[in-house]
Parts: sequence; C-alpha cells; structure tokens
Amino acid sequence: MRGHVLTAILVAAAAGCGEAGGKATEATSGGETTTTGIGTAGTEASDTTAPTTGDPCAGPTRCPIEGEWPLPKLSDYDFFLDPMVDLGPKDGVVPYTVAAPLWSDAAGKGRFIVLPEGGKIEFTDGEGWGFPEGAVIIKNFWFDHDRRDPAAGRRMIETRLLYLEGGAWKSVTYLWDDAQTEATLHKIGKRVDVAFIDEAGDAQVEEYIVPNLDQCGSCHERDDATELLGTITHQLNTEIVVDGQPVNQLEWLASQDMFSGTLPEMQTLPQLVDPFGDAPLADRARSYLHANCSHCHRLGGGAGKSGLVFLAWEEIEAKLGVCKVPAAAGPGTGGHHYDIVPGQPDDSIVIFRMNSLDPEIKMPELPNRVIDQKGVQLIRDWIAAMPAKDCEMLP
Ligand code: HEC
Ligand code: HEC
Repeated sequence: MRGHVLTAILVAAAAGCGEAGGKATEATSGGETTTTGIGTAGTEASDTTAPTTGDPCAGPTRCPIEGEWPLPKLSDYDFFLDPMVDLGPKDGVVPYTVAAPLWSDAAGKGRFIVLPEGGKIEFTDGEGWGFPEGAVIIKNFWFDHDRRDPAAGRRMIETRLLYLEGGAWKSVTYLWDDAQTEATLHKIGKRVDVAFIDEAGDAQVEEYIVPNLDQCGSCHERDDATELLGTITHQLNTEIVVDGQPVNQLEWLASQDMFSGTLPEMQTLPQLVDPFGDAPLADRARSYLHANCSHCHRLGGGAGKSGLVFLAWEEIEAKLGVCKVPAAAGPGTGGHHYDIVPGQPDDSIVIFRMNSLDPEIKMPELPNRVIDQKGVQLIRDWIAAMPAKDCEMLP
C-alpha cells in the first residue's frame, strides 16, 4: 500500500521571513505509513506568484525569542495553513521524508524542517548536519481511518518538535484534541486508544503511547546531549517525486535553498534504502536496524554498553551481533546463546527479542506496544540468508 499523501498549497506569508519574492509552491508532503515503510514524501513543487506582506517575524520562521518557546499551542507557531489538521505547510515549512522510518506502532508520520530567517543547514556527508539557532524539526503522528484508502481521512494524535535554542535541541510534543482543530503542549505522556482498518481490511485497535518529555531522551540523547536522528545524509539521500518526476531529495532541498554552499557529488554520498522496497536484502535489513535500533545501539546511546551496534556504517560483524554473546544473561536471551546465529533466526536473540512485548525482553525498548511483524520477518530473512556458521567453533 502506498503511504498517505496530502496536498497543500504553500503561500508566502511573510516577506523577509520566508523566501524573498514570495513564491507559492504546491507541495505534496508525505506520510509514510510505517507498517509498509514505503514512505515517500512525494513532494511536488511548482512556482507561481503570491503576495508578500507583513511582519518578517510573524510567519512560521518567526524568530524565536529565548525563554518564550515552547509556545502553548501548535497553532501559535503558524506552521500550517487552515485547516491545520491537513498539515498544509506555510512558506518556509519544508516537507521531507526518510528512507527508512522508525516503526511507531503503525502510526503514519509527516515531517517538516523550518529554518529561521536567512538560516541555512551546514551539510556533512553523514550525521551532524549543522542547523542554525532557531531551527525547528516537526514530526506528526497520525492514524489513517482506513489504511487502504488514505482519502478516508485520519486522526492526528501528536505533533513533536525539536527546536534549537541556546545551542541545544529542546523536545516538546503537542497533543491533538478530539475536534482535530488544535494541539496543546503536553508534557506528561498519554495513552490514546486508536482504531483503524489495516491494509488487509481488518479492524485494528491499539493503545498508542504519547511519550512524556523525559522519554524523548531515551532515543534522542547521546552522551547527555539531544541529537537529531533522521535528518542525516543517509536517511534524506532518497528519491522523492516532484511534479511527477523522481528527484533526489537532497538535491530538491538544495533547490529550496536549505544548505549553505553546494552539495558534493550525489554518487559519493551514503544512502539507506526502503526496508520494504526492492533493494538487496542485506541493505534493507541494515537500513531497518539503523532506523529502529541504532539510536540506542551505538557508542554513547542507551544500549552502548551492550556492545551491539546497529549503525548502518558498522562493518565489524561481531558488533552487529554475529556470534556475539550478549552482555547480560537472563530472560532477555530466551535461552539462546548469541545475538545472531548465521542461518538460524530461531536461535538468534535478536529475533527472540524483536518478537516479544514483555517489558523485560522486548526490543526496541519502550514505547512500542505492537510488534512490527514485517520488520521481524525482514530481519529473520536476513539472518536465514547468512551463510551458516557454527558460533561454537569460533576462536
Ligand atoms: C523510540 C525512540 C524515540 C523516542 C522515544 C522519540 N523519538 Fe523522535 N525520533 C526517533 C527516530 C529514530 C527518529 C528518526 C526517524 C524518523 O523520523 O522516523 C526520530 C525523529 C524525530 C524528529 C525529526 C527530527 C529527527 O531527529 O530526525 C523529531 C522532531 C522528534 N523525533 C521528536 C521527538 C520528541 C519531541 C520525542 C519525545 C516526545 C521523541 N522524538 C521521542 C526516535 C524516537
Ligand atoms: C530505546 C533504546 C533501545 C532500542 C531502540 C533498542 N534497544 Fe536493544 N537494548 C537496549 C538496552 C538498554 C540493552 C541492554 C540491556 C538488555 O539487554 O536488556 C539492549 C540489548 C539488546 C540485545 C542484547 C544485546 C547484547 O549483546 O547484550 C539485543 C539482541 C537487542 N538489544 C536488540 C535490539 C534490536 C534488534 C533493536 C531494534 C529492533 C533494539 N535492540 C532497539 C536498548 C534499546
């Protein structure tokens, strides 16, 4: 199934704050539905003219004042056109997508970058893009009523922001009301009952968990600093559709004047793939593990001490779990001896833990409540396809 696609007209709302000259751009911003992972921003852009008036700091790039943010309501930021629930971005609110999204209990997601007036991103060919003070990244979570038919509408649940203030990323989330007209700053987390029709046409219900603000750090913090996870070259170096034509998303963002300087040759840049697309199995599995596990499973991350590393660029097999003895014994092993036994998914702790919802065992750790069946199958296939190796025989 394709992801939910929404269309919006971007209007240059504020002279000086958005792009000078005031352009109206038609954009299709994408929410992939993360059960399929086939998420494309499907961003379409075309130029026309629109009036430019108003206060340079009145628009979405409204020049945040330290201490004033976070604002109490999502509408206070003025990111989206009316009705806000359609997430039609205003000028300067730029949609993007990631090659390999995080599984969030089947929620659909849509992401945007907002740079402050004149601000540009300093590009690097990996992680650690340099964002200007005042930059905001927006991530929306929703459930389509019927995943076979996104046009049937959806229920917005939360809108998360990370914004750069005083050189540090600050985390907030806004909880949508039942009327779907406003979202309000929410700090303490919430359980929300959701119901939807899945791709197979079956009715599903689940309890979706809005994390409390302390929990953002369990994934976004590394060595005590809040880090961006998806806005890295590997994840954004992917194909999107603009005006019906496939284009590279990094090139499209560059054409929107998002980067300082010019980008290096595209062919030289690293890339994750769609875990459920048609790339080779190993690339898809590694992209999945990067997106869903590496924020903890890396040096400095929440599972740094386990020694298990799922970064896409990790090359040492043992660190990836192959014939790796887990750091801790106990229920988390399910009686198995190695994280990954090549050729033997059923003997691999990785599969055992991904397949569990027991809080003592389950991976990823919090906050999921629904197993990503397609994800488990992918990693299962990947391990099954590895040339069999007897881990006991290793030195
Ligand atoms: C279970 C781990 C996890 C938790 C908890 C979590 N995030 Fe994230 N977040 C991710 C991952 C992984 C990405 C990148 C992949 C994607 O966008 O799907 C991401 C992306 C984002 C983005 C887009 C910018 C970026 O880093 O790529 C924002 C904004 C964001 N998260 C905000 C929050 C806020 C605010 C909270 C707490 C309310 C939170 N997140 C909790 C894992 C998490
Ligand atoms: C929110 C953080 C977090 C995420 C995300 C996460 N893990 Fe973990 N993981 C941990 C922590 C902490 C440990 C160490 C404690 C334990 O074993 O429970 C761990 C341990 C493990 C272990 C035992 C490793 C060893 O060698 O000791 C496996 C296997 C594992 N995780 C697999 C995964 C997989 C596969 C994913 C992604 C699908 C994942 N984890 C995502 C936090 C996380």
